Amino acid sequence: MTEVVKPDLRPARPYFSSGPCAKPPGWSPEKLATGCLGRSHRSKLGKARLQHCIDLMRETLHLPATHRIGIVPGSDTGAFEMAMWTMLGARPVTTLAWESFGEGWVTDAAKQLKLDPTVVRADYGQLPDLSQIDWSNDVLFTWNGTTSGVRVPDGDWIPEGREGLSFADATSAVFAYDIPWDKIDVATFSWQKVLGGEGGHGVLILGPRAVERLQNHTPAWPLPKVFRLMSKGALAEGVFKGETINTPSMLAVEDAIFALEWAKMHGGLQGLIARSDANAAALDAIVEARDWLGHLAADPASRSKTSVCLTVDGADEALIKKMAALLEAEDAAYDIAGYRDAPPGLRIWCGATVDTADIEALGPWLDWAYAQAKSS
Ligand SMILES: Cc1ncc(COP(=O)(O)O)c(C=O)c1O
Repeated sequence: MTEVVKPDLRPARPYFSSGPCAKPPGWSPEKLATGCLGRSHRSKLGKARLQHCIDLMRETLHLPATHRIGIVPGSDTGAFEMAMWTMLGARPVTTLAWESFGEGWVTDAAKQLKLDPTVVRADYGQLPDLSQIDWSNDVLFTWNGTTSGVRVPDGDWIPEGREGLSFADATSAVFAYDIPWDKIDVATFSWQKVLGGEGGHGVLILGPRAVERLQNHTPAWPLPKVFRLMSKGALAEGVFKGETINTPSMLAVEDAIFALEWAKMHGGLQGLIARSDANAAALDAIVEARDWLGHLAADPASRSKTSVCLTVDGADEALIKKMAALLEAEDAAYDIAGYRDAPPGLRIWCGATVDTADIEALGPWLDWAYAQAKSS
């Protein structure tokens, strides 16, 4: 192999982790509003900040008035499991999995809730045949598979007149794609992905049919307090107005508000989508120019524009670890080894908080790290 010289230009912000993701450009802790810290989250001020956060999310996501949105405990996992535990069991369940987080929901449905779900799987890099889904069932899926870099292309495969509910784990999808909310009964995410916010809290979105399910279905299993969305026989509407079930981190809330205000200043949803698209295109150009790099997601139509997963010619886990360590030591790229359960490869976050110039600057560093790792 010819010697590859260490590049001069480093990405200004080498934060390419797929979660928690890069903070918004210009972020610093001093810029967070802290007036509500040390106060009760149920004070007038605390509730107003929580409501402001909810309002900003609704506005940025273009969420229709038909859908509720609330802040819940336990990051995306907490939000998705809250939905599973409160709403499943009313009808048969289908779980779709094409990477490890989808597999996690399969495990929950099969082994914890013992629902004997129909499981539809595809290998890493592929999508299953979405046209075969039986929508008389409740259907659980991951909009963007963060560990395989495969996403659903759109919502066209979700029928309008479905009998079952659609449950979308949309954590690395919201703010990066146009989500057709009329096809969504339940969606969840956390701030730590496209917004570059903090983990800890989940966001739960419920369409009208999900609310109907909550009102008319009593789960056969006990519900811990942090999962309870019904109170005295009625929907706990407070959850969707900033009256959280238990104590939230107001610092994380303020951090999310900062990110949402940054998003608003940068063109809102369309601005965020454009930034993600530009990043993914810049990374794709890097891949196209190198015969030793490839996309794990075979079909461009279902290739993620946030968590882009790359194959590396001849790589095993050790080579990837070496590359990632070399790049980290040079402050050229942090956290770009693929997920531990995925085939060995690289995973580079292209969400809106990453700057395209930094993706562009990464290309020569990948060449350097690959050459170094191969020759050591
Ligand atoms: C698709 C998907 N689902 C769920 C999770 C878990 O998210 P959290 O750690 O916010 O609970 C992740 C985290 O990366 C994810 O990518």
